[in-house]
Amino acid sequence: MEFSIKSGAPEKQRKDCVVVGVFEARKFSDAAAALDRASDGYLGNILRTGDIDGKPGSTLLLHSVPGVAAGRVLLVGLGKERELNERSYRQALRAAVKALGSLDAADAATFLAEVPVKKRDVAWRVAQVVEVAADSTYRFDRFKTKTANGKKGIAKLQVHVAQRSDVAAGEAGLRQGKALAAGVSFAKDLGNLAPNYCTPTYLAEQAKALSKSHGLQVEVLEKADIEKLGMGSFLGVTQGSVQPPKLIVLQHKKGKKSQKPVVLVGKGITFDTGGISLKPGADMDEMKYDMCGAASVLGTFKAIAELDLPLNVVGIIPTCENMPDGNATRPGDVLTSMSGQTIEVLNTDAEGRLILCDALTYAERFEPQAVVDVATLTGACVIALGHHASGLFSNKDSLAEELLEAGNEAQDRAWRLPLWDDYQPQLDSNFADMANIGGRAGGSITAACFLSRFAKKYDWAHLDIAGTAWKSGKEKGATGRPVPLLTEFLKQRAGQ
Ligand code: BES
Ligand code: MN
Ligand code: ZN
Repeated sequence: MEFSIKSGAPEKQRKDCVVVGVFEARKFSDAAAALDRASDGYLGNILRTGDIDGKPGSTLLLHSVPGVAAGRVLLVGLGKERELNERSYRQALRAAVKALGSLDAADAATFLAEVPVKKRDVAWRVAQVVEVAADSTYRFDRFKTKTANGKKGIAKLQVHVAQRSDVAAGEAGLRQGKALAAGVSFAKDLGNLAPNYCTPTYLAEQAKALSKSHGLQVEVLEKADIEKLGMGSFLGVTQGSVQPPKLIVLQHKKGKKSQKPVVLVGKGITFDTGGISLKPGADMDEMKYDMCGAASVLGTFKAIAELDLPLNVVGIIPTCENMPDGNATRPGDVLTSMSGQTIEVLNTDAEGRLILCDALTYAERFEPQAVVDVATLTGACVIALGHHASGLFSNKDSLAEELLEAGNEAQDRAWRLPLWDDYQPQLDSNFADMANIGGRAGGSITAACFLSRFAKKYDWAHLDIAGTAWKSGKEKGATGRPVPLLTEFLKQRAGQ
């Protein structure tokens, strides 16, 4: 979808559709009031029928409204005027995009970015229009040989601001919204791509292509390099697969030379069968999403590169498959991590932590100001938090606060769980420094405790995105989370 910013009268827009808001209690937004005047009270009569009650998410489509240049008027409920907040605003935007999608219309003008949202300015409102429109019109149809016989959908959306003096702020919001939408959509594409296409090699190629198009530095370490580094834990996961592992290292260097980087680490298991501790068959296809941590790191790099964020950021992506085979790691095997710590593998399905721990050790060489790892790490996190919040763990309270705040700001929330030493003994092993599992109780916490043992040298946080990175069922698909949270966090770190 193409977006543009304009300031103009709603009744004069020659579009297939103009979109205006109405509040509960039959109250017009300014744009709706203008249409009502132009149409001699036509809209007021419609509101009096009660066919649209103004509740957030309600819509009503009108054709050939007198005195209005556009062919259609879409009324969108915004709830109670005084209560219009971030949530209800996004709900209204989503409903508007959905209604537009069912029209055989090519271009529309929306006036929803003119309505006042509590504590939010025009740039924010415009960015939301762009993000929500991109998010709700996203489709993954690469492998569909016939195009669905649906409507073409809106190709151009003009986002109106109330005054000419708002245009500059609107343009800034447009830029922010587009950058984030591009990052989210990239992460979704990588997540949704079938696992016979989305291999570690493919992820490495994508990282290289992104670096080329967006001015990043990239290095891809091959199996021999990974061996040289002594990443025995990472190598233990990949050894049952015919796909070669990769360690992708990305750098966005737009901060001062002296500034320490923020390091993002993303779990890149392109398919998780569980290995010898094989997973049950039901829904196993969803384990193609086990690289969504990696995808969110790549998506975030795309967004911050498009924003030209003045910050130094390093991305580290360990990527491989977890397969059962004659050469695969067995339960009982002992691996030696890059840190020197030894690990008894009691369950080969707890593989995420095994590739991440070596990436966390590798992160030390960048002398980071902070390290944030992102991983579809535990089914237990889905049980704890469901699909609404990502799990957050940190060895530094101020970093945890920043990430929680970024999640709130971006409406991509996380919830902090404890990382107390009380849980650490669950990882005790009789035969190595630690086991790779800690039993059923507090499974997400013991997974985070495992990682914490490799993240002692810097401020570190871990996001468990097992419940938030994709949706199951009829709407199966990647969400692009937590690209919004991470992008917001980095914007804050860059002082923006
Ligand atoms: N990738 C999975 C976690 C996962 C499972 C995410 C289901 C979303 C849905 C991870 O590698 C895994 O298998 N974890 C195990 C750990 C267990 C063996 C300690 C799990 O959660 O069952
Ligand atoms: Mn697993
Ligand atoms: Zn996994």
